[in-house]
Amino acid sequence: MERRAKLYEGKAKILYETDDADLLIQYFKDDATAFNAAKRGTIVGKGVMNNRIAATLFAHVAEHGVPTHFVKVLSEREMLVKRLQIIRIEVVVRNIVAGSLAKRLGLPEGQDLAEPVLEFFYKDDALGDPLINDSHIRMLNLASGPEMEAIVDGAFRVNELLKEYFDRRGILLVDFKLEFGRHKGQILLGDEITPDGCRLWDKVTREKMDKDRFRRDLGRVEEAYAEVLRRVCG
Ligand code: TMP
Repeated sequence: MERRAKLYEGKAKILYETDDADLLIQYFKDDATAFNAAKRGTIVGKGVMNNRIAATLFAHVAEHGVPTHFVKVLSEREMLVKRLQIIRIEVVVRNIVAGSLAKRLGLPEGQDLAEPVLEFFYKDDALGDPLINDSHIRMLNLASGPEMEAIVDGAFRVNELLKEYFDRRGILLVDFKLEFGRHKGQILLGDEITPDGCRLWDKVTREKMDKDRFRRDLGRVEEAYAEVLRRVCG
């Protein structure tokens, strides 16, 4: 697969065109940002680790009936993916209170949720990705009714699959963010599933094993990603 022009460069990944109009190369960088890029840094080796973690998790959910953009791993930092028309919604699923949910509703971090909580954020850096609801999604024409059904079903299904997958590896899936897109009339899971966009806590110690170590200056960031890689792919 030949790498052609750069299509888009984000905070943690680059998308390149290929010689096939339906396929893109997704390249994982070591760059890390937080708080809408107000904080910037490098997590050494993150791109290599995230490429492997995402490939494994995409393959797992696809095997269990959730279609994704992932095609195959091409190199240490590159995966081949289907070209998506990305839907500008960040879909967050939560099993335990943390992060912005704790702040917004004044709840203690770490409280178990009786059932998963689903949230939507409008993917717009200039606005700081505000929380939105179904009514806003219709108003902004971000996705159709049937598309939202596929997205909501997919998000809950991914949660069930990954909660169990991580649990077997001694990790609590606290919350995570997904992005979906359109490909040939189908809704596919896109973007990435990595410790950049998930909160992962050790099941026994509840130690943070994800990007919150970078966001909150907790140290041992690379070690945490390496441990997730070891448990997920090991
Ligand atoms: P939040 O608690 O800050 O809203 O984050 C919820 C989840 O979404 C958490 O697992 C981290 C992930 N996330 C991203 O992937 N990108 C983002 O820009 C933000 C704010 C959160």
